[in-house]
Amino acid sequence: MSDNNNQKRDGLRVLFPTLIYEARYPEFSAMEEKLVSFVEQMRDQDVEGKRISAEQYPSGYTSYFTHNALYKDPELLDLVKFMHLAADNFAKDHHWDTSNYQPAINSMFANINPKYSFHPEHLHPYSHISGVFYVKCDASSPAIGFKDPRAARWMMPPAADGMRPENAFHAKLAPEAGKVFLFPSWLEHSVAQNLSDRERISMSFNFEMQQKPQS
Ligand SMILES: [Fe+2]
Repeated sequence: MSDNNNQKRDGLRVLFPTLIYEARYPEFSAMEEKLVSFVEQMRDQDVEGKRISAEQYPSGYTSYFTHNALYKDPELLDLVKFMHLAADNFAKDHHWDTSNYQPAINSMFANINPKYSFHPEHLHPYSHISGVFYVKCDASSPAIGFKDPRAARWMMPPAADGMRPENAFHAKLAPEAGKVFLFPSWLEHSVAQNLSDRERISMSFNFEMQQKPQS
């Protein structure tokens, strides 16, 4: 019985790719302590945010409802600059029109996930690029999970190596302190329950492509 190994192919095309950008914040080791205490102090002082989080974000804290424009905080200037560079690169990686449009950050908030907290599947409306930056986590912290939005693929999936990105329906990326992931805002994602005793701290943010000022 012959196989197809000798069959000549002209190539393999990749259609509908989903890009995930990752980078390390170069200043993280110098900034780590400051960033952790920035978020923890904010949480400690944010009475209203803790009240809403208790209702909307069981067992965790998010500043999403009370402090969601952290990109304006002078203490985070350098980190936000790094996020902007990452978003510029991501827009270029997609071959978007970066001559006339540029990524503009429109929200940034912090999340603290202690033991047993989790974040169900969601996406980020009203933006083009979303991202997460890890302030505090370790190897025991839960990963961010992404879901393939092409629902038709569930129709009759062939037996396959599900570890390969070509075949995965769900993908998980391990968090790492000082690292950022950017992804398209329409991509559904979630964070599994934190079973570690260690708090997981992240900052989420969103960019939209805005028209550059005409000169
Ligand atoms: Fe999210």
